[in-house]
Amino acid sequence: MKRLFGMIMCLALALCMTGCGSTVAPSSESTTTTTASQTTEKSESESGSRSTSETSKEADNKTLVIVFSATGTTRGIAEKIAGIEGADLYEIKPEIPYTDEDRDWTDSNSRCSKEQNDPAARPAIGSEEIKFDGYSVIYIGYPIWFGQEPRIMDTFVESYDFGNATVIPFCTSGSSGIGNSGKNLASNAGSGNWLEGKRFPGSASEDDIKAWIESVAQTSTDR
Ligand SMILES: Cc1cc2nc3c(=O)[nH]c(=O)nc-3n(C[C@H](O)[C@H](O)[C@H](O)COP(=O)(O)O)c2cc1C
Repeated sequence: MKRLFGMIMCLALALCMTGCGSTVAPSSESTTTTTASQTTEKSESESGSRSTSETSKEADNKTLVIVFSATGTTRGIAEKIAGIEGADLYEIKPEIPYTDEDRDWTDSNSRCSKEQNDPAARPAIGSEEIKFDGYSVIYIGYPIWFGQEPRIMDTFVESYDFGNATVIPFCTSGSSGIGNSGKNLASNAGSGNWLEGKRFPGSASEDDIKAWIESVAQTSTDR
């Protein structure tokens, strides 16, 4: 009888351990916390369906969104573009940040006024260098200052080789259009295949931006 009772207890314990396994949440949860790219890598390597050349082709077709934004408006648009395109985002930060006083466009002696009045001004960049390897499409955004691109954008484009990447300028402003800013940047860069740029109000919706991205893709395939 004692032996039978012992056997029943062992069986009950074994059944409980099997049944309770899926509720051991902490350890099982921690192993499934992977990034989207890790998950993709795993399923691709498991299926073994993609060749090395396909993978490296994809690695050369990444999209990058570069932005300079003094008060966050253009960065908001850049984040939307990056979200829609699944792109990486890189922010150009000035070595010396622009203060409210610096940005006073009503003062002809403010830092911005002086820089924009001097076509040769090249404010230094403080953010880390970026490598363009693998990026075939590069969006580049900035605010309009006195109808032009901020001079720090010229510093940036003159510091990099855009190679054969398709470069798409975009900007925000109170009301001015993009003017010649995209063309100036293209000419100062001296590399990259620069497309016509677009000005957005800070309030541009995700749908507005999606529609623009689609029209850009259409124009570049029509070429
Ligand atoms: C120095 C300076 C000059 C500006 N010049 C213009 C201009 O010529 N036309 C315009 O519509 N807005 C002008 N603006 C407004 C900015 O373009 C606008 O607020 C922009 O969305 C700011 O973007 P950010 O927050 O990314 O810096 C100027 C702003 C500053 C600080």
